[in-house]
Amino acid sequence: MRQVRTLGLLGTGVIGGGWAARALHFGIDVVAADVKPAMEEWLRGAVANAEAALARLTFAPLPPKGRLTFTTDLHAMARQVDFIQENIPEQLELKQRVLADVSRHAAPDVVIASSTSGIMPSDLQRDMLAPERLLVAHPFNPVYLLPLVELVGGRQTSAAALDAATRFFTYIGMHPLHVRREVPGHLTDRLQEALWREILHLVNEDVATTGELDDSIVYGPGLRWAGMGTNLIYHLAGGETGMRHMLQQFGPCLKWPWTKLEAPELTESLIDKMVAGTQAQAAGRSIRELERLRDDYLVAIQQVLREYNIGAGATLRALEERLYEAAAATARPRIAAAVATGAAGAAGSDGALRLLETHVRPEWIDYNGHMTDSRYLQVFGDATDALFRYAGIDEAYRRSGHALYTAESHVVHKAEARSQERLYVMSRVLEVDEKRVRLFHNLNRSRDDALVASAEQLYLHVSTEAGKVVPMDAAVRARLAAIQAGTR
Ligand SMILES: NC(=O)c1ccc[n+]([C@@H]2O[C@H](COP(=O)([O-])OP(=O)(O)OC[C@H]3O[C@@H](n4cnc5c(N)ncnc54)[C@H](O)[C@@H]3O)[C@@H](O)[C@H]2O)c1
Repeated sequence: MRQVRTLGLLGTGVIGGGWAARALHFGIDVVAADVKPAMEEWLRGAVANAEAALARLTFAPLPPKGRLTFTTDLHAMARQVDFIQENIPEQLELKQRVLADVSRHAAPDVVIASSTSGIMPSDLQRDMLAPERLLVAHPFNPVYLLPLVELVGGRQTSAAALDAATRFFTYIGMHPLHVRREVPGHLTDRLQEALWREILHLVNEDVATTGELDDSIVYGPGLRWAGMGTNLIYHLAGGETGMRHMLQQFGPCLKWPWTKLEAPELTESLIDKMVAGTQAQAAGRSIRELERLRDDYLVAIQQVLREYNIGAGATLRALEERLYEAAAATARPRIAAAVATGAAGAAGSDGALRLLETHVRPEWIDYNGHMTDSRYLQVFGDATDALFRYAGIDEAYRRSGHALYTAESHVVHKAEARSQERLYVMSRVLEVDEKRVRLFHNLNRSRDDALVASAEQLYLHVSTEAGKVVPMDAAVRARLAAIQAGTR
């Protein structure tokens, strides 16, 4: 199966738009296809709308954004992409017909994944050419912020297709959850539907309003669910004997049962109560306004969970580790060449190394319309990270209890950088001894090579456990010294 550089989208509604925003943000080109030409404008608006929150999700260095093109020619889309994600309406016959058609225009090593909320992959792959590359990849709204994607193989799905999909979705910052066996509704929607069914009963019987039922989750279980699921939470609730005690205590209730297994009839009166209830909850706020509010707290929650390396926060950490490593990988050959050949050849005229390419993201702008102070440190920090990784100071080194802490930063500002301006950093090792490294960075504008700012930074090598400055690993020091010799 192919490495994915271009993603094809089949259907560009709510879910197709979410896939586009996520893929573009992480540097994947997108060819979006929809039968309705008017969807192009809608899709571009959806991508722009998602950007505000996505841009704040991580400060790790991102690759250049992917390019978005739109077509109403599904066959042309299928011919030019490396991976196809189908997001057309949830109707079995329609999906079967469109997937069979598109499969005749996509090379057999192009994975075709369906966003279906509940249809089983064996039914979808029935009439396809090369059906072994079809699987379900069920995302959650908003696709650009929620990392979960349920992967489900059908009777004919190959392990290679599932592996390729796992790699691709991980690359764009997601958490692929392999569903062992295909069942209608996969896993999450079965759970969500059970909850929703009970909501409909309780509203139908006038036990509670939609707002009260949402409060019953938001102020309690909802807070727990972001980091631990129902099972682990119940294990904690059972005291020392955990889940065994929980089942003894509450097991009998399951048999009474508290809940109803059949959905209530969707009468006009029930529909009216659900609609009126949620309109009251919205309190005059538009869907767009509520989406923005939702996106903001989803970003903030993931950043908090990252500190605890749990749930979606663990996925975010893994994504950032990949992004830092990718930035370092670009710098590595330049550093290696400079070390091997000395200043001549691989480095700039003053011996400096080009370690980082970036651009000024819109949210980096201050009230004067220029890149704000704190972002200079961030960009210099990213260049430092690329250099240190080359010397062997990576996640594994940090896990061994050692790190380089910033002791001094001296930044000199020379020119402005505006929104979207492309920048690059040239770096040198000025000095290294057993406990200290001194670096010098120049930040330049790509369009005219003007110097925007420079930074001189002193780093101390510390034992993170002892909180003390200690000598660095000899191999790390030797590599830093080799960089210094090469770039002097
Ligand atoms: N909305 C959700 O929360 C959600 C979440 C996860 C998965 N899904 C699944 O994603 C899929 C899409 O859902 P949605 O909410 O984005 O629907 P939507 O109605 O917003 O979008 C569907 C798009 O498909 C296009 N389309 C229709 N027929 C087509 C065809 N033959 N070829 C190409 N495009 C065609 C439509 O023009 C429309 O733009 C469904 O299978 C749904 O179950 C939805």
